[in-house]
Amino acid sequence: MIAIRDLVKHYGRFAAVDGISLEVHPGEIHGFLGPNGAGKTTTLRMIAGLAKPTAGTIVVNGHDLAADPDAAKMSLGYIPDRPFIYEKLTAGEFLAFHGALYGLEAGPLEARIADMLALFELARWKDELVESFSHGMKQRLVMCAAFLHRPRALVVDEPMVGLDPRGARLVKGVFRAMSARGVAMLMSTHTLEVAQEMCDRISIIQKGRIIASGTVDEIRAMGGGGDDRLTAVFLRLTGGGALQEIDEAL
Ligand SMILES: Nc1ncnc2c1ncn2[C@@H]1O[C@H](COP(=O)(O)OP(=O)(O)OP(=O)(O)O)[C@@H](O)[C@H]1O
Ligand SMILES: [Mg+2]
Repeated sequence: MIAIRDLVKHYGRFAAVDGISLEVHPGEIHGFLGPNGAGKTTTLRMIAGLAKPTAGTIVVNGHDLAADPDAAKMSLGYIPDRPFIYEKLTAGEFLAFHGALYGLEAGPLEARIADMLALFELARWKDELVESFSHGMKQRLVMCAAFLHRPRALVVDEPMVGLDPRGARLVKGVFRAMSARGVAMLMSTHTLEVAQEMCDRISIIQKGRIIASGTVDEIRAMGGGGDDRLTAVFLRLTGGGALQEIDEAL
């Protein structure tokens, strides 16, 4: 479970996140949509404990992030938009290091690493240096790391970027299996087909505020008639540019 209430993040005078509240229940995949610069990554980084909120509360699986940061973070997995991995480690070393940070014991950790590498189709790369990995392989390795400690909640920032069709299908399958096991997931994405296919509910954020929230069907009904495909409704709700404007600019 992830519950955020009245969350605010200021950078100087600029409010990157301007008072948002949302809840993600166990087993729910919650899509976090919005234009570039809307505040999605900032919100997800605050939930992961990587950026300090200016105001508001974050509760992860019943643990208040400000009051009990270790318990909150131990029950959360975070998959960032850009994989950051020490390039001079092998895949196996990186996961062993990551697992040790979460206090996993060597024996069970070794087995868990093997399982995760197999799940994400990286087993034969275990002893290769990360610097030789493609972007999609690094992305999948970061996912192995995020799942090592069996988090009950997951925060995911644009997971499909850079994945080939096979990788994307694999990741969708893993996320669905996680949600079937009761994991609560908050996932940002620009791929509206992914949102439509995967998400139980969606929140649309613009300029740091949530402007629409609901199931895909509910969001589509908010479009005010006309073209009710999610992409068209999203563009109408967020005031996205029309093709005519592109024509005029050219
Ligand atoms: N460390 C920072 N210092 C100053 N401004 C920041 C910082 N981090 C983010 N911002 C600003 O906050 C706003 C929200 O950024 P954020 O990265 O959360 O957007 P986003 O919704 O994830 O966008 P995208 O879809 O492009 O990933 C942007 O205007 C950004 O420039
Ligand atoms: Mg972002």
